[in-house]
Amino acid sequence: MQLLNSSVGRKIIMAVTGLLLISFVIIHLLGNSSVFLGPNGINAYAEHLHALGPLVWVFRLIMLTLFALHIWFGVQLTLENRAAKPIGYAQKKRLRTTFAAETMIVSGLVILAFVLYHLAHFTLQVTNPEISAGHLPLDAMNRPDVFSMVVLSFQKSFIALIYVVAMLFLLFHVSHGFQSFFQTLGWNNKKSLPVFGKISKGLALVLFVGYVSIPVLIFVGIVKL
Ligand code: HEM
Repeated sequence: MQLLNSSVGRKIIMAVTGLLLISFVIIHLLGNSSVFLGPNGINAYAEHLHALGPLVWVFRLIMLTLFALHIWFGVQLTLENRAAKPIGYAQKKRLRTTFAAETMIVSGLVILAFVLYHLAHFTLQVTNPEISAGHLPLDAMNRPDVFSMVVLSFQKSFIALIYVVAMLFLLFHVSHGFQSFFQTLGWNNKKSLPVFGKISKGLALVLFVGYVSIPVLIFVGIVKL
C-alpha cells in the first residue's frame, strides 16, 4: 500500500503495467499477422485461442486489471503534475521534452476509446453484426470465419480509418512510454538515454507499420477474400 501512496510507487506501477501492456500489443500483432496467411492462418489461430477455455478469462481479467491500473495512475500522475506546475502556458518551457511526452494523457485516452470500440467491433461483434464471425457462415473447416470478418471490416473506409488513426496515437504513446520505463526504473544515464530513446521510437514504428499494414493492405485490395 505504501507503494500506491508515493508518487515514485505510482510511477513504478505505471512502468510495469505499461511494459506488460506493450508485451500484449507485440504478441497481439504477431497473432494478427496470421491474417496474411488467409483463413487457414487467422481462423486456426482464433480457434486455438478460444480452445483455451477458462484460461482465456483468466487472461482477460489480468489484462483488464493491468489496463485499469495503468489508466487510473496515469490520470492521477497527470493531475498531480499539472497541480505542481503553477505556471500558465504563456511561460511553459519545452525543456528536454517532446510532443509525444507532453501528450501522453491524450494519446492514452484515445487508445482507451479505441480499445472500447475494438472490443465492441471484434470481440462483442456489436458494431457491424452483419459482417461479424458470429453471423457469417463457418469457414471450409467449420471454424468461425474471423478472416472474412476482418477483411469485410477493413474494406469499409470508415473502419479502416479509425484503426489507422488509432495506431498513430499508439505510435506516439509507445514511442515515449517505452523509454519512460527505463527512466522510472533509473536504468538510464546521459549515455544510455539516447539509446533507449531510439529503441523506443524504433519499437513504436515497427508496431505502427505492422498494425497499420493490416487495414491498409485489405483496403487497397492486396489482401482479399
Ligand atoms: C489492425 C489492428 C488490429 C486487428 C486486426 C485486431 C484484431 C483483433 C481480433 C480479430 C480480435 C478478436 C479475437 C477473438 O476473440 O477471436 C481482437 C481482440 C482484442 N484486441 Fe485487437 N486487433 C488490432 C489492434 C489492437 C490493438 C492496437 C490493441 C491494443 C491497444 C488490441 C487489443 C485487443 C484486445 C484487448 C482484444 C480482446 C482479447 C480478448 O478477447 O481476450 N487490438 N483483436
